[in-house]
Amino acid sequence: MTTTIQTPVPTRQLTAEAAVTTAQRTIEYRQLPAPVPAPGTAVIRMNTVTLCGTDAHIWDDDYATELPIIQGHEAAGTIVELDPTDAGQGFSVGDRVVICPMFYCGTCHACSVGRVNACREMSVYGCYEDGSLVSRQAVPLANLHRLPGGLPVDLAPLVEPISIAMQACQRGRPVAGEKVLVNGAGPIGVLAVTYLKDLGCEVAVADMNQARLELAAACGADRPFLVAGAFPAADQADELAAWTDGNGPSLIIDATGAPVSVATAIDLVATAGRVVCVGISDRQLSFDMRKLATKEIDLLGSRNSENLFDQSADLLNRYQQTLRQLITHRFAFHDLDRAFTTLIDPAAGVGKIAIDFPGEN
Ligand SMILES: NC(=O)c1ccc[n+]([C@@H]2O[C@H](COP(=O)([O-])OP(=O)(O)OC[C@H]3O[C@@H](n4cnc5c(N)ncnc54)[C@H](O)[C@@H]3O)[C@@H](O)[C@H]2O)c1
Ligand SMILES: [Zn+2]
Ligand SMILES: [Zn+2]
Repeated sequence: MTTTIQTPVPTRQLTAEAAVTTAQRTIEYRQLPAPVPAPGTAVIRMNTVTLCGTDAHIWDDDYATELPIIQGHEAAGTIVELDPTDAGQGFSVGDRVVICPMFYCGTCHACSVGRVNACREMSVYGCYEDGSLVSRQAVPLANLHRLPGGLPVDLAPLVEPISIAMQACQRGRPVAGEKVLVNGAGPIGVLAVTYLKDLGCEVAVADMNQARLELAAACGADRPFLVAGAFPAADQADELAAWTDGNGPSLIIDATGAPVSVATAIDLVATAGRVVCVGISDRQLSFDMRKLATKEIDLLGSRNSENLFDQSADLLNRYQQTLRQLITHRFAFHDLDRAFTTLIDPAAGVGKIAIDFPGEN
């Protein structure tokens, strides 16, 4: 008698549930065919996505992208399927990964000089094409970074904004012991503080929001400056001068997106210093042009990040207890209306909002 042993065939997930931003402040949950892994891609079961200010603009239909779109560009999940031909490419089913959401053309000037983070044809998941507010997403392997051991997946989406802050700091070539001023204590400013402190810099931070300054101090800032009206006020100018031996900070990172803050940075920065703008605004910037030349200031822009995800994941891993404080709110994937309403509520005291997908983290 012959017995046929039936090998159980794993059942494929047939659908994926996506949160589609279809119109201003409107999210519809839709069932889509589940993605199938093609060569060079992995299917990710999403664990956690964090939201940022850009998400608020897209949700409010106040962004250079057409709706509908699936939002979500700060995302971490688990590899659930790989194409068999990818065996050995370094990834395995079950790996916890963070997704780099950036795509570049490879041929424009920026790409040709290796600065793909400033690609002229840049696309970003969740901003210019469908992103990660979906239960399953097929992602190119080149955009995946395995989490270091010990880094919880529910914290891992912060790797993306950390990489943004790190890029801004690295553009300014910080050195240990140097006195740096970070303007703006939102998530990007606070993450810049953490990175600069890790490098051994002394860091001052300025913001008009006391609670945010307290968070920056909890993340290591040495000197918080509360901005009330013009900055610096007379006593703050004295303190900055005393701190820097009359020179002014030699590196200033603007993480406010306020033109006035950049103009002030050009006034305050030490001669031969650097000012980095990571904050973004559509408004015009006006400043004293003489100072740019005579102080020989390096005025630098900073966009996205270039090959910093692994370094960023390492920083997050080492400072995970501290940086967890940045996540002030968590919502379930099916509670996105409340998440976005909270994101735009100035009274809610939002740092970062995390969205958790159903299932185990
Ligand atoms: N360049 C990039 O690739 C990139 C990527 C992400 C975000 N950003 C930009 O970086 C900036 C910071 O991002 P975030 O998420 O931390 O934003 P955020 O709005 O949460 O934080 C900005 C902070 O700046 C403070 N602020 C505003 N005006 C100020 C002033 N004149 N002086 C001192 N503080 C002031 C605000 O109180 C706030 O705490 C934003 O402009 C954002 O658009 C840039
Ligand atoms: Zn973001
Ligand atoms: Zn390009």
